[in-house]
Amino acid sequence: MAFPITVIHGPNLNLLGTREPGVYGAATLADVENLLLKVATQLNAELRFTQSNHEGEIVDAIHEAQTWAQGIVINPGALTHYSIAVRDAVAGVGLPTVEVHLSNVHAREAFRHTSVIAPVCVGQITGFGPNSYHLGLLALVQHLEAQESAA
Ligand code: DQA
Repeated sequence: MAFPITVIHGPNLNLLGTREPGVYGAATLADVENLLLKVATQLNAELRFTQSNHEGEIVDAIHEAQTWAQGIVINPGALTHYSIAVRDAVAGVGLPTVEVHLSNVHAREAFRHTSVIAPVCVGQITGFGPNSYHLGLLALVQHLEAQESAA
């Protein structure tokens, strides 16, 4: 059976393609999701996507994942750097979560170097453009497989 996984995109990621292309590249959010759908079958993952510009809706999407998903790939956008609510939601549902970023947040402004979410995640992948999502999904599936075979 394929692993059911939710992919959550935070604020401003709906603007991908036109938003600061020098930083985030030319791929749109639909391009990112299509790339993931293409690799999902090979990776044995079944995906659902959510994007929201609202912190509470991101929290709701994380809670909702608890009813059906086995893991979360999340790009929390700017919420990464300050949202204790998103962090608490990730910790609260207890689903293995991988944080991803298109840009290398550690090579940018100092305020982007801190993630309040990463400490409650399995790990963080940052700086590989749309491939960060692909690598994040791969890492999450391998984590779930390892958990399954250890059970
Ligand atoms: C981002 C990095 C964040 O610092 C920024 O606020 C974003 C996008 C990324 O994918 O590189 O919105 O999460």
